[in-house]
Amino acid sequence: MTTTLVWNPLDPASIQDPYPIYAELRERCPVYWHEGMSSWVLTRYDDCQWVLRDHAAFARDRRRAGAEIPDDKLNIQTQDPPEQALLRGVTARSLNSQRLQEICAEARELMEHRLRGLAGAGPFDLMRDLAGPGAIHVINNVFGVHAYTQDSYAPIYRGLTQAMDSGLDPERLAPGRAAGRALSEEVGGWFADGLGQDGLLGMVTGHADVPGLPTPYVVNTIAATYNAGFSTLYASTGAITLEVLRAGPALLADLDPADPHVLTLAADELMRFTSPAQATARVALEPVELHGVRIEPKQTIVTMMAAANRDPRQFADPDRIVLDRAPNRHLAFAWGPHICLGARLAMTWAAEVIAFLAEHGPRLRLAGQEEYMRAATLRNLVRLPLEYAG
Ligand code: HEM
Repeated sequence: MTTTLVWNPLDPASIQDPYPIYAELRERCPVYWHEGMSSWVLTRYDDCQWVLRDHAAFARDRRRAGAEIPDDKLNIQTQDPPEQALLRGVTARSLNSQRLQEICAEARELMEHRLRGLAGAGPFDLMRDLAGPGAIHVINNVFGVHAYTQDSYAPIYRGLTQAMDSGLDPERLAPGRAAGRALSEEVGGWFADGLGQDGLLGMVTGHADVPGLPTPYVVNTIAATYNAGFSTLYASTGAITLEVLRAGPALLADLDPADPHVLTLAADELMRFTSPAQATARVALEPVELHGVRIEPKQTIVTMMAAANRDPRQFADPDRIVLDRAPNRHLAFAWGPHICLGARLAMTWAAEVIAFLAEHGPRLRLAGQEEYMRAATLRNLVRLPLEYAG
């Protein structure tokens, strides 16, 4: 399918509000060739779900399409089934065995404490003053390591997040690699020093060097998980807050924050509506035909989950937040063998953020223009000015 539609995902207007262009792509050109990314871009729900689910036909592990990845660069995200099973299983069990509920509740208390200090003091920045402290508290406590602060982690977060778009802007590759090296060195140090024995890290460390799990692969996976965790918890705190405040106090007025079922439905809906993870990629391993377009083996396919999550073929009234939407089979955490390993933690945190907003939202107001990082794969606010009446 050919089209004259021109789209630069790094255009600030597209980052600010990508949903109009997603809708246009979805309706006019569901299999769109993006010259800059040298990739096919899919925006319809069924198509994205199919590609994410069918790992026999579409690889995350580029070695299956002939690429070379040195052993010291392997991590959970570069391996497909069945090789991924052992470390994915160990990491998921270690993560889900942590005190996720308590840790998230502590981080919410931390945000509440800081918010009280900001009452009546004029505009503050949600990202710097609340989301950053909350997200770093959660991730450090889950890992059982407190080496990074919000400020010391910021350059690594920025480097890795921007490098996700290096297909669009190759200049992001070198700083991204440097950030990745710095993080892996730090995590390697945690291993060597035996830090974090009580947290996720300690549980996973116990499996390093067992057959099939060489230490660099484990270290890289821990590093990738730490960053995936911090970056999305931080970004989703901002995204959820912005959408809830934009919608106005009526949105959460009838929500019972003490009801975990209600909170889970609401968290799912806000993930569908405003997940920070816009897209991921796979490589075709065999020729496939989709909406009259032939995709060749070794071609890259970008699945735009954020576009699929607003597909009216799957979701009634997709541009409206319906807090009790069910079923809600959104793709915010992707689908298939690489589905987000931290989804339970992400949902637990989102529920805390929503409960926090149900309580304090009526006295919070947007107090200036929000700002996004110039990043398209992970859409994330870097500034969200608010005021709190107390
Ligand atoms: C709002 C929060 C989150 C969102 C929207 C999100 C989204 C995603 C998505 C879309 C993927 C799949 C990527 C792909 O298939 O290529 C993924 C994978 C992953 N996520 Fe999350 N994530 C979130 C939170 C977390 C947290 C809190 C952690 C860990 C602490 C985490 C760890 C991971 C890991 C390790 C993977 C790779 C899994 C694999 O490749 O097998 N994520 N996430």
